[in-house]
Amino acid sequence: MKFYLAPLEGITGHIYRNVLEKYFPGTDRYFTPFIAPDQNRVLRTKERRDVLPENNCVSDLVPQILTNNAEHFLQTVRVLQEMGYQEVNLNLGCPSGTVVSRKRGSGLLAYPEELDRLLEQIFDGTDMRISIKTRIGRDDEENAFRLMELYQKYPLSELIIHPRTQKDFYRGEPRLELFGELLSDIGRFPVCYNGNLLMEQNYKDFTERFPQVEAVMLGRGVIANPGLIRQIKTGQPTDKKTLRAFHDEVLQGYREVFGEDKNALFRMKEMWIYMIHLFSEHERYAKKIRKAQSLAEYGCAVDALFAEQELLVNGPKRWELPLR
Ligand SMILES: Cc1cc2nc3c(=O)[nH]c(=O)nc-3n(C[C@H](O)[C@H](O)[C@H](O)COP(=O)(O)O)c2cc1C
Repeated sequence: MKFYLAPLEGITGHIYRNVLEKYFPGTDRYFTPFIAPDQNRVLRTKERRDVLPENNCVSDLVPQILTNNAEHFLQTVRVLQEMGYQEVNLNLGCPSGTVVSRKRGSGLLAYPEELDRLLEQIFDGTDMRISIKTRIGRDDEENAFRLMELYQKYPLSELIIHPRTQKDFYRGEPRLELFGELLSDIGRFPVCYNGNLLMEQNYKDFTERFPQVEAVMLGRGVIANPGLIRQIKTGQPTDKKTLRAFHDEVLQGYREVFGEDKNALFRMKEMWIYMIHLFSEHERYAKKIRKAQSLAEYGCAVDALFAEQELLVNGPKRWELPLR
């Protein structure tokens, strides 16, 4: 099995990826959060910093592009090719309202003709390997088979399927039955599964049901427990000492890059939305972290959490995840 880290905009930037690889190695492939080129520029400062090879210490990194414009896609590919990248990923999964209303991300799934044209142009326009990360539709799953047929016209290097629709956002369970049906229809390229593999047991149940799947992409589960992939691969559970060192280095990295502690604090809070689930009886600490106005207040809350609570390496009793 190959394990990929899902791109999470605002969390899995280069600082996070590098520190994760250092303390919890085992991820086979990393993806950058999406780069969104437009008519004015290919890469914003933040996006360039995130993909620059000298800022990245992981061996296999795939930049992700979000656009419905073939020219913008190909311009971005050329810049990334010059940096040494050999594969890019097209985002056809993002469910956010502003993205979808502009027919991008999972919004494009409702327009198969336009999607077909985009794919034709990008596959004709470059020899770079292109993989796709997709949801199974915008409004409902009705067109899922048609979408897979469409993808099969092109030489994708891989198709990553998150079997929810755009309308689902992150609600409910991924549609595993449909995923199974789609899987048996796809023969031209490898398929990677993504969605709600939050704990080791979820992974075990998944592989029991779909032993033929050779790659999985994990997102929120790894942010919750940064040692999850290592734990699944080697049986070594996450321990407090390593987790604390990991946490401190991510924070330090943000402080160096952002200069302003306010931004670093904001980033850390985003991470804690998920990582708080790794700790027993965490409610009170979660509130303190959320409300912290300074790094000093934040530090006190985190120190207390590490000192007073235990790590739940097999997952929490209950997940409280944002549904949008
Ligand atoms: C905060 C957040 C940011 C995300 N950013 C991206 C992104 O930039 N590109 C992308 O393809 N998916 C993005 N996703 C979706 C994840 O990559 C992944 O598909 C989703 O979290 C489901 O996988 P999981 O259940 O393992 O977390 C994001 C999800 C979240 C929660």
